[in-house]
Amino acid sequence: MRQTLSLPDTPASLLPLVLSAMADTPDARLRQLMASLTTHLHQFVIDNAVTEAEFERAVQFLIDIGQATGPKTNEVILAADLLGISTLVALLNNPSGEESADSHAALLGPFWRANAPACPMGANLARTDCDGTPMEVCGRVFGADGRPLAGAIVDVWQADPKGLYENQDPDQPDMNLRGRFETDADGGFFFRTVTPAGYPVPTGGPCGELLAAQRRHPYRPAHLHFMVSRPGHKVLITQVFTAEDRYLQSDPVFGVTQALVGRFEHTQRDGRPLTRLSHDFHLCAGEMVFPKPPIP
Ligand code: BEZ
Ligand code: FE
Repeated sequence: MRQTLSLPDTPASLLPLVLSAMADTPDARLRQLMASLTTHLHQFVIDNAVTEAEFERAVQFLIDIGQATGPKTNEVILAADLLGISTLVALLNNPSGEESADSHAALLGPFWRANAPACPMGANLARTDCDGTPMEVCGRVFGADGRPLAGAIVDVWQADPKGLYENQDPDQPDMNLRGRFETDADGGFFFRTVTPAGYPVPTGGPCGELLAAQRRHPYRPAHLHFMVSRPGHKVLITQVFTAEDRYLQSDPVFGVTQALVGRFEHTQRDGRPLTRLSHDFHLCAGEMVFPKPPIP
């Protein structure tokens, strides 16, 4: 008599076998994540009757984003950003209450660099003459108990008025428009810079092709990035956007929430235009863990 073997013979019969093969994974969280991911992927393939050619194309996309990732850009993170996954993870892990309305988290993006220069209070982030409207940014950092936090580090990075980060643009000096400030006894910080411009996410790689195929524009609304840290507190990674940007409601990476639209003031000093922004940050108690820089 032939022995009945546990072998798959229909699309739906495969999943239980795969799940059972992974069931002894000792790490419980890895076991749960891989079982759930595998279940969703199997269902996706079945629901969409994915063809062999489509599977090959998907594999090629993953190879392409890996190969397009290098010292200047991180195409894998960009892919996650364009699918809304990076923003989803930020929203899920950083619920924001009323009292911390200024402190919604936002995606990190691909351009943060560790070890930006430590700057004295009031320093200018521009390490070269920049065209564009000068800007002054101030604010305070508060702890979970609502008290001002002295000695917190406010790490800032931004694109220049042409919409390029320093490491995308050979014409900008190293670490241009990046800096770290330490808050004073009142939790305050203050720096000078140049008003950022909106810019397209990198479109030269496979993610650009995907955007074009989906008829999506690549323009992020103008913003400043902040990473605020202090031992004993969860690192706050966020962005602050200008209110008047035409792309505010169609950010290709879905990073804009109402609380992240900054109170930018467009004023004048000595007859010259000046932008001012005042923005506070509220940290939650927790472990101070920094992300791995997406680029070196
Ligand atoms: C950024 O804001 O730097 C960014 C975020 C996602 C994709 C590309 C750039
Ligand atoms: Fe950015």
